[in-house]
Amino acid sequence: MKITKNTSGLHGKIKVPGDKSISHRSVMLGAIAEGITHVEGFLNGADCISTINCFRVMGVDIEYDGGTEVTVHGVGLHGLKAPSNVLDCGNSGTTTRIMSGLLAGQPFSSELTGDESIQKRPMKRIMIPLKEMGADIISVKDNGCAPLRINPAKLHGISYNSPVASAQVKSSILLAALYADGETTVTEPALSRDHTELMLSAMGADIHRESLSVTLKPGKTLQAQDIEVPGDISSAAYFIGAGLIVPDSDLIIENVGINPTRAGIIEVFRDMGASLELINERTATGEKVADIHVMTSELHGTAISGDIIPTLIDELPLIAVVAATAEGTTIIKDASELKVKESDRIALVTKNLKAMGADIEATDDGFIINGKDGTPGPLHGAVIDDALDHRIAMSFTIAGLISSSDTEIVHPECVSISYPDFFETINKL
Ligand code: S3P
Repeated sequence: MKITKNTSGLHGKIKVPGDKSISHRSVMLGAIAEGITHVEGFLNGADCISTINCFRVMGVDIEYDGGTEVTVHGVGLHGLKAPSNVLDCGNSGTTTRIMSGLLAGQPFSSELTGDESIQKRPMKRIMIPLKEMGADIISVKDNGCAPLRINPAKLHGISYNSPVASAQVKSSILLAALYADGETTVTEPALSRDHTELMLSAMGADIHRESLSVTLKPGKTLQAQDIEVPGDISSAAYFIGAGLIVPDSDLIIENVGINPTRAGIIEVFRDMGASLELINERTATGEKVADIHVMTSELHGTAISGDIIPTLIDELPLIAVVAATAEGTTIIKDASELKVKESDRIALVTKNLKAMGADIEATDDGFIINGKDGTPGPLHGAVIDDALDHRIAMSFTIAGLISSSDTEIVHPECVSISYPDFFETINKL
């Protein structure tokens, strides 16, 4: 798809699709709750549909017609059925990792796998703690990746110090912990997104947090809840970035989830000089929500590292694009997790920004980006190697909006993983 420079600015009010992380959890936890969970604002992206399909294969009645409403008929903690097929997680690391924890506690065997990218992503990070709990989980090809085979086993509570700040790892352990014979505590090096904890708590689980540790005591049933999924800040990020860097823009993005474990991008952009205002702040099903008002701003470089990284990890490709247009240097550190996302995002962001004329250097755990001293339109067009990674394709579409010549996104269809209407929304603006 060809992206042409925008010359008139982006104006108007938009809504972004539902939060991907919360959408996955609404189906997973709704499935093992007692009663009916109605979900509004569900993300109709391919990743979340993979989760629906997996639970249908395990006998859960899920009413879903491809839109944004889902009704999950919960079967309770012990009501899942042995899947008749291999569970296909598609491109979704969240489905693969979190569901593995849940499957570890079931009285039946299962196998899960996904696409080429999923079969390369590290699964030892969940296999190690789940095995410590007593799980029988193996990597079928013995390479630490999916396909994973899980056999029934008795699970014990553990106290686990996770080496990575990963909500997928934390959530996988917490779902296994629902089936263990004692309490489980997970401690993270920095706080990762806490949607699983919030939803488990709302459904009646015995779960509490103390600084970087979360403890779950098994024994409580989960009770179905109606869930209103807020707009995904990771999807809003593209329009926040576009509103900041496309000249003469003034945008409102409505109903965006601003859970503090997700909202690091707002802090970083404000620190870079962004005109960014949160309006109409409220709470929806235990999650903080706001409308975001963004206007074109003169941005300068910044330093991003440490505890804030997990709160903006998926936004870093877009932040790198924005930093390339800002005045001065931006240094991003402590983000080596980017190498094991849907693609190696350190390598791809660097390669593509260089192709567009930016001054960027990859480091072991991030980037050093030298912005272009305020020259308007500092980037030029290029053919973007997106490696079928939705976040690379969308980040470089935004770069294309301010580039002096046309930009080509090679696999625009990959945005359907998290944002099926992305290009329609861009065109509307
Ligand atoms: C997610 C957690 C993050 C994030 C991913 C979604 C989740 O991954 O990158 O897109 O829903 O739990 P990690 O937990 O591996 O950091």
